[in-house]
Amino acid sequence: MPVNRQTVSPARQCGYWDSLSPVYARITRIRTDDFHYGPQIPGERELGLLPPLGAGSSALELGCGGGQNSVYLAKRGVRCEAFDISEGQLAHARALAAREGVRVAFRRSSLEDFAGAPPPPRRFDLVHSSHALEFVEAPGDIVRAMAAAAKRGGTVLVSTVHPLFNGDWIEGEWEDESGRDAGAAGSGLFLRDYFSPPDDVRDDAFGHAVSRAWPVSAWFGWFRAAGLEVTALLEPPATPDAPYTSDDWANHGGELDRIPSTVILVGRKK
Ligand SMILES: C[S@@+](CC[C@H](N)C(=O)[O-])C[C@H]1O[C@@H](n2cnc3c(N)ncnc32)[C@H](O)[C@@H]1O
Repeated sequence: MPVNRQTVSPARQCGYWDSLSPVYARITRIRTDDFHYGPQIPGERELGLLPPLGAGSSALELGCGGGQNSVYLAKRGVRCEAFDISEGQLAHARALAAREGVRVAFRRSSLEDFAGAPPPPRRFDLVHSSHALEFVEAPGDIVRAMAAAAKRGGTVLVSTVHPLFNGDWIEGEWEDESGRDAGAAGSGLFLRDYFSPPDDVRDDAFGHAVSRAWPVSAWFGWFRAAGLEVTALLEPPATPDAPYTSDDWANHGGELDRIPSTVILVGRKK
């Protein structure tokens, strides 16, 4: 394991999200009139990545948090199942579904247990996860299980933290060919190591959690290894009218116009 990586423990991630969930629900604003892919980036209305779904279609969401994406789909008649490791997060999801008058079969499970279990007897048209796979040690195992849970011809959709966003950026200057300091034109931001960005380790009042980013090519490889044809790969810049935002995300000061927060992969099960 590279030196800047920590061990990821599902039990500690669960404790962290259970204590964070009341605050997360208060400060994060996630709409249900759009399907979101990540903080401060455009949603489905603009990106158009979902397959045609409606009454009679089925979807499974992994690491559903407050359940907004499943509620969005359920409002369109899709039969939805969703799980998360945190009972605190699931309580918000159940309350949201009740408020919006839709049925979603929420249950508690870890991504790791899902990956270790046999595929569900009824496969799904869509298996999706937004910003949850960065909290596991082996995302490739989860992608394989997502593909196994999808119908032939079905869609697997993952959005997760972008490796440039978790990257270790350093400010520096370089010299021109004559060895002189190149002044303002010769300064900029440099990425220390694309292939192994440091873990985003959260040790705070809520507990301990680790969010890990992987090179985009690793995600592409995991999709291919799982028997998925990658049909879209996006790194969207920020938009002011995002379906998922908070005061902190909205006040990013232009950073998210230059460095993507999220990478999105869409795969079709062959
Ligand atoms: C950043 S939130 C995203 C929630 C939701 N997908 C969304 O886009 O709003 C991450 C979620 O992943 C869940 N999570 C973290 N580790 C997990 C694990 N090992 N198994 C299942 N869920 C996990 C957390 O409880 C949390 O709800």
